[in-house]
Amino acid sequence: MSSARVEKLLQSMTPAEKIGQLIQYFYFRLPERGDPSMVPPGQVEAVEAALAAGRAGSLLFVTDPATSNRLQRQAIAGNRHGIPVLFGFDVIHGLRTIFPVPIALAASWNPELIEQSQAVAAREARAVGIHWAFAPMLDIARDPRWGRIIEGAGEDPYLGSVVAAAQVRGFQGPHLGADEHIIAGPKHFAGYGAALGGRDYDEVDLSDQELWNTYLPPFKAAIDAGAGNVMSAYMDLNGVPATGNRWLLNDILREALGFEGFVVSDANSARDLAAHHYAADLTDAGARALNAGLDLEMAILDPAFEHLDEALENGQVDIERIDTSVRRLLSAKEALGLLDDPFVDEQAAQTVLNDPAHRETARKAAEESAVLLRNENDLLPLTGIGSVAVLGQMANSKRDTLGPWIFDYDLEETVTVLEGIRAHAAGLETPVEVTYAPGVPSPVRLFPSMFDMWGDGSKTDENFDSEAELSRAVEIATAADVAVVVVGERQDMIGETASRSTLDLPGEQLALLQAVVATGTPTVVVLMSGRPLDLRWAEANTPAILQVWYPGTRGGEAVANLLFGQAVPGGKLPFTWLRHVGQVPMHYAHTRSHDPSKQDRRYWDEESTPLYPFGFGLSYAKFAYSNLAVSSSSTPVDGVVTVSVDVTNTSGRDGNEVAQLYLHQRYGTASRPVRLLKGFRRLHLRAGQTERVEFAVTAEERRYWSAATRDWVLDATSFDVWVGGSSTADLHTEFTVTD
Ligand code: GLC
Repeated sequence: MSSARVEKLLQSMTPAEKIGQLIQYFYFRLPERGDPSMVPPGQVEAVEAALAAGRAGSLLFVTDPATSNRLQRQAIAGNRHGIPVLFGFDVIHGLRTIFPVPIALAASWNPELIEQSQAVAAREARAVGIHWAFAPMLDIARDPRWGRIIEGAGEDPYLGSVVAAAQVRGFQGPHLGADEHIIAGPKHFAGYGAALGGRDYDEVDLSDQELWNTYLPPFKAAIDAGAGNVMSAYMDLNGVPATGNRWLLNDILREALGFEGFVVSDANSARDLAAHHYAADLTDAGARALNAGLDLEMAILDPAFEHLDEALENGQVDIERIDTSVRRLLSAKEALGLLDDPFVDEQAAQTVLNDPAHRETARKAAEESAVLLRNENDLLPLTGIGSVAVLGQMANSKRDTLGPWIFDYDLEETVTVLEGIRAHAAGLETPVEVTYAPGVPSPVRLFPSMFDMWGDGSKTDENFDSEAELSRAVEIATAADVAVVVVGERQDMIGETASRSTLDLPGEQLALLQAVVATGTPTVVVLMSGRPLDLRWAEANTPAILQVWYPGTRGGEAVANLLFGQAVPGGKLPFTWLRHVGQVPMHYAHTRSHDPSKQDRRYWDEESTPLYPFGFGLSYAKFAYSNLAVSSSSTPVDGVVTVSVDVTNTSGRDGNEVAQLYLHQRYGTASRPVRLLKGFRRLHLRAGQTERVEFAVTAEERRYWSAATRDWVLDATSFDVWVGGSSTADLHTEFTVTD
């Protein structure tokens, strides 16, 4: 329901002015290190001309408050009604304070922490004049070859839904338009993570049951949490481009999920309906996107919506449909207070951006996101050592520590793993000597990343003396009490247009690891990645493996705290960690299908089980689960069963654990997954402490969409229940559901 003010404004606008509100342009301002040749010639001039002509309702990629105010003045002067523009941006994991990448935040399994993190990001964004985040990215990813797995919450719809709602709360605050908060824009609607072959942008074919049971639930959670925007996806979904797909953008998004905000396209994805060979030309593309349910077109140049005047004249669209979109955009601007005060306080912005409390939140998030994959003989935490050798280029790379999808960061203040270890070691009662060597040259991509425009691509050093450097690495490893080898994918090898055909450690990193292990010095692998990489050799030959993702501005400090025990790892995997790329796609929530007893022998040439299961993660503490109980052994179909369990920290040190609840439906209208996550709680338990945890299993946790009835069902059936510290939990009970 729109306000009288919006209605009055709408009634006073001409069709051309209305169409001008439905176009969003990139506004590129590259840093010194950027590559201006990658910006289409004349793009900036075209955008400023559009502003002056009242033909731009929104801009993206403006992060400087003074530029924001200047462009806002141009926009207001450019239309009769003084309507300001809406500034959107990719606030994915922080703006100036960089948080661990989204897949890392998901690995914390801590909704409160995730909400806090995105609230900090929102505060910094709003301070510089950004009104809206193109986040959270909610695409379920079950093919780790797809680089954008890093931007979401992994393979599971339940975890993805909890994370989605937490992010929306963090961005938007108590209500849409709240001070120091911004509009959340869940993306990419929908199914983008199932790209054929893991190749970014390639087509997606998903059954209705996959869409309803796996790919749509996080979007439902975000919409239920009040998200003000949704972004459509690039690719064809079941043969129809998502951005021109009325079934998706209207029947599902509006009618089934109840979304009332505005829909923006992905970059150029509306004009690209012609490139898909779906629309005949840009006029057809704009008309079909609008009629499908698109409200705002994100474009670099020459938007399809520039042709809506023609589509209006030739009857392809009607003014009522245009009014609906303009109403949604004006309502968003009104909710943010932009119709009264669209400007930003340029002085106050710097104070907010430099708030040290933000960096503390980022460090805490990095500590809670790390996942300890292996710790033979409790090599970690490091105690009683006199020296540590740190190996690998990524240990010393500020840009890799931050990860992809950032633009306004402060590189100098970023703490690398090497810097973090050095600072920590120097501060110990008995200082520890720290040595460093890169060991092997940096791996590089086959072709530049799309983000090279910002000058962020990883480059190898032409003068790198491989033989001498590897010898030096072996020499310092031999001399040290412990070696910490930092390996993984460079930050431009993961993310958008960063799909891979293998999951190997890129370049010569495995050779470095093998050379260091061959010295006999106890070796810790610190992994920086956003997807599961092939760790079979490391798992068989190194005692400790810590996945730290891309830990952000204070990442090195957090990693040092974890390695030396000042922080205790408690993260859990948000995806299945495969042994080998040949197992793709593999996820834990598969059905029993035929001959389930041989589920672990589906390939004759490789284990068919994961290297590490979904939900897995070790700690320096040890946890035991006991006294699993259900409140009732049976319940009516719309009833609630409470599952409760004792979780005990049986170690002598405080620690964090994520208690996870999994269900399996034994029979019913459809075959159901062997296990499905339906509850979790992150716990901080002191040494020896026991906490009793309860999970409510309602009809919501048991309902699913069935391909047999092509509708939602609640079966009268029996359920297995497991609770534990990963998806392989073996503490079991059961209950039945009666008609
Ligand atoms: C990109 C991405 C989308 C992002 C948008 C604006 O191509 O697909 O996630 O928000 O363009 O940068």
